[in-house]
Amino acid sequence: MTQNELKQAVAQAAVEYVIEQVPEGSIIGVGTGSTANCFIDALARHRTRFRGAVASSEATHKRLAGHGFTVFDLNDVDRIPVYVDGADEIDGSLNMIKGGGGALTREKIVAAVADCFICIADGSKLVQTLGKFPLPVEVIPMARAYVARQLAALGGEPVWRQGFVTDNGNVILDVKGLHISDPKTLEAQINQITGIVTNGLFAQRPANLLLLGTENGVERRR
Ligand code: 5RP
Repeated sequence: MTQNELKQAVAQAAVEYVIEQVPEGSIIGVGTGSTANCFIDALARHRTRFRGAVASSEATHKRLAGHGFTVFDLNDVDRIPVYVDGADEIDGSLNMIKGGGGALTREKIVAAVADCFICIADGSKLVQTLGKFPLPVEVIPMARAYVARQLAALGGEPVWRQGFVTDNGNVILDVKGLHISDPKTLEAQINQITGIVTNGLFAQRPANLLLLGTENGVERRR
């Protein structure tokens, strides 16, 4: 199976899971990226079963609206039973690195509100230790150089993502060279640096369920 076919398979499995588990008329949270896009496209057939969705990026908002979903402002929603999103890396405890598409802050906010985070990923995303994928960090533009020095002091090698501005008007530093043995602590430590909006470690709020696409089918891991 190609990587794209694995993404389609996990997206379909997530649609089935959501239809089975989430009460009709719910508002669901939707992530960003190519795997999340497969989920949106597969969910479209069942659009009328949901009251609508909350999007984790402008791109996702556009795709959902294009399929006829009502897209809600998060401030107008007090409960999201489920949030479905991809990941750049995920470990055995369902901690993740996210933000390859630069939507990490809004993803983290929607995930914080959601009762259940379902990560959909092809098998290549499962790792023993997080950190091979450079850790995205969203930074207020005027703090970029300062934050880069602070991240270097933590042992990372920050690289400014060129030509990219987040939906929130900020920049991204992709931090290479981190061996992340304690994701929860590192997530908190990095977020203490003044000028950082948030970093792409999702360990304080990991996924609740991983739907992993493999050659042998979609595995469920909790
Ligand atoms: C976007 C993300 C994505 O979930 C992550 O980059 C995975 O993307 P894809 O499904 O395209 O591999 O965090 O900010």
